[in-house]
Amino acid sequence: MKIAVVGTGYVGLVTGTCLANIGLDVVCIDVDADKIRVLRDGQIPFYEPGLEELLVSNTRAERLTFTTDTQEGVEGADAVFLAVGTPMGDDASADLSYLFKAAEDVIDAATSDLVIVTKSTVPVGTGEKLKALVHKKASPHHIVVASNPEFLKEGDAVNDFLKPDRIVIGADDEKAKALLNRIYHPFMLSEYRVIHMDIKSAELTKYAANAMLATRISFMNDMANLCERVGANIDLIRTGISTDKRIGKAFLYAGVGYGGSCFPKDVKALIHTSKEAGHELSIMEAVDAVNTRQRGVMLAKILRHFDGDVAGKTFAVWGLAFKPRTDDIREAPAVSLIEGLLSAGAKVRGYDRAARANVAAHFSGRDDGLVLVEDEYAAVEGADALVLMTEWPEFRLPAWGDIKKRLKGAVVFDGRNIYSPADLSKEGFTYYGIGREKAEPSA
Ligand SMILES: NC(=O)c1ccc[n+]([C@@H]2O[C@H](COP(=O)([O-])OP(=O)(O)OC[C@H]3O[C@@H](n4cnc5c(N)ncnc54)[C@H](O)[C@@H]3O)[C@@H](O)[C@H]2O)c1
Repeated sequence: MKIAVVGTGYVGLVTGTCLANIGLDVVCIDVDADKIRVLRDGQIPFYEPGLEELLVSNTRAERLTFTTDTQEGVEGADAVFLAVGTPMGDDASADLSYLFKAAEDVIDAATSDLVIVTKSTVPVGTGEKLKALVHKKASPHHIVVASNPEFLKEGDAVNDFLKPDRIVIGADDEKAKALLNRIYHPFMLSEYRVIHMDIKSAELTKYAANAMLATRISFMNDMANLCERVGANIDLIRTGISTDKRIGKAFLYAGVGYGGSCFPKDVKALIHTSKEAGHELSIMEAVDAVNTRQRGVMLAKILRHFDGDVAGKTFAVWGLAFKPRTDDIREAPAVSLIEGLLSAGAKVRGYDRAARANVAAHFSGRDDGLVLVEDEYAAVEGADALVLMTEWPEFRLPAWGDIKKRLKGAVVFDGRNIYSPADLSKEGFTYYGIGREKAEPSA
């Protein structure tokens, strides 16, 4: 069976590589010639643990190839997965221009009957529009459309793809269903976890999943803000509620607001879809509003500590990616914080194990005041405070004595609640977390 995957980003490259790994003949297509060159050299154009090893072995076995030429990639393919970006458009809806361009190219390039499988996150009704496009193009080949939303998370994407919680297949064509069943069967040997549904429900399932997870985060952040006002501790509340099996443990951590390439845009796109359908999605409006407010919480704490004036002060920022184990800085809370600090006249010394190049590119040309350093200890050198924004493992138990010597001011702002206020107090720091009481130095 031959598969083509259009788009070699976080989703497309993981999909293509993992499908090649079960023995399929896979061609990955991208319009970005630089990316394709890097991939042909056996490297990965972004950071994703475990992916390079699989990519190299499957490329060597000649099951996985890369091209910028859609015609070459689609030739003879039984299924073409669309995994291009669907970023937020100007009106907060999903921008589907990349998806429809990719679909058009695939239909034009088809040399045989095939299934177009949408893996990108797309608003409900997109499948219908793709079917209309297929109809309009009047290809001599039988082309059908299916939806197969992706639930992987960056940082653990390979594992998620190889051992998915479930596979959602939205298809009304029996041949498409059978083909996708065949493709996913090798991932389901221990337990069958394929859920079949209509295309619209599959499209909406993806948004509902992200919306639910974002809701849990905003709920906890809102509770954290209440905790700060009444002197309660959000971490104790989390333990107190997550031990209830009906609630569970995941996505209940208070912090600096959700970011990344999915939750912010998907929540907004879902609200947009709902408005278009004449329904006000009140819960998601609140989730989005709470998150917008939460993204400013750390800057507000910093400004309050420095009596509203951070001009000329230097801040060490640890963790720049939107979460650990990725270099993705799309909608990263650390990036918003740095922008806020710089525009308030402060200087920033930032460190992140993986995201440095992306941050440098993001701030290129307007990076006065921002220095990106090689390690976490260089970041705190001469800084007035340390701000933890992304909880990479190396930040969990640092040498506080060394940090205190290097810092000018013994203040720690912990955006992920990974430190113990009591411990930091003993180490001689003023400590601010999220939804916890401030701690003053006791030493
Ligand atoms: N990143 C995630 O964690 C994640 C998880 C689940 C679902 N998704 C969804 O998957 C989709 C892709 O996300 P991503 O993060 O992998 O995107 P990405 O931005 O990392 O990659 C998209 C790729 O598509 C390529 N592309 C754009 N137009 C093209 C065209 N016409 N032909 C060929 N290539 C083209 C781009 O050059 C880019 O390399 C989005 O809809 C996203 O919402 C993402």
